[in-house]
Amino acid sequence: MTESNLLDGKGIALKVREQVRQQVEKRVAQGHRAPGLATVLVGEDPASQVYVRNKHRAAEKAGIVNFHKELPADISQQGLLQVIDELNNDDAVDGILCQLPLPKHLDEDAVIMAIDPQKDVDGFHPQSTSALYQGKPNFVPCTPKGCMVLLDEAGIDLNGKNAVVVGRSHIVGKPMAHLLLGANCTVTICHSRTQDLASHTRKADVVVAAVGRSEMLTDEHISEGTVVIDVGINRGEDGKLRGDVDFAKVSPVAKAITPVPGGVGPMTIAMLMYNTCLAHQRRLGIEDES
Ligand code: GUN
Repeated sequence: MTESNLLDGKGIALKVREQVRQQVEKRVAQGHRAPGLATVLVGEDPASQVYVRNKHRAAEKAGIVNFHKELPADISQQGLLQVIDELNNDDAVDGILCQLPLPKHLDEDAVIMAIDPQKDVDGFHPQSTSALYQGKPNFVPCTPKGCMVLLDEAGIDLNGKNAVVVGRSHIVGKPMAHLLLGANCTVTICHSRTQDLASHTRKADVVVAAVGRSEMLTDEHISEGTVVIDVGINRGEDGKLRGDVDFAKVSPVAKAITPVPGGVGPMTIAMLMYNTCLAHQRRLGIEDES
């Protein structure tokens, strides 16, 4: 591995977060209230607790006010919808994020549908997804948006390139494919039923791995000169975090690769800050500042 083929998500995320912080500071100096982000955490899943805590820290550092709701794992659907409704009606809240996955007895789709589309900083509401699918993105889901910013900041030209997305989730795979399509890639979506995965990934200029299976993609799947974006965060029995890509095998051949941790993960949080700042701008009717 050469230093130069490492895509520094951590560094780029810090840069985005600093831009958001400066924007928030400017708005507050102009007399606007600070942006507000509401996070809803149901139950006590340790991974979700860590993710939400990291989101709080980032918000605080950016000058965004946290509104946190911690709800018991056995809350009823109606109880959860009532909390969402209160946040929808709270003027100080610009963004609402309900950490997924939810306990099995809750209807995730109904909860996502209940979030005011103006506050949909996760970009999961059907109004946001349909805008993305129509090529007119509004709020874009944070992880795939983070991958796009990472590619852009690294100066990787996507125009006309072959991109393979491995994984078809609503949170990453599907929106990722649409964003790459919007950037003029020829896009293939592979998944758990794909036959001969390597025959697809070997032809790719860009591979985005978002399957949730530890170190599943190896040097058999990746050709020399391919840019590899690893969305996976898998905790091994040894407690170590590993991606969906076997970094030791793939990094010597890849043109560029994101590490785990320190690649896509920090970008997800940075894009949540960006989306919250965007929601705040729109809700307060602040003119384009760029
Ligand atoms: N769980 C894993 N990723 C995400 C995300 O981006 N947003 C929410 N709300 N839950 C998640």
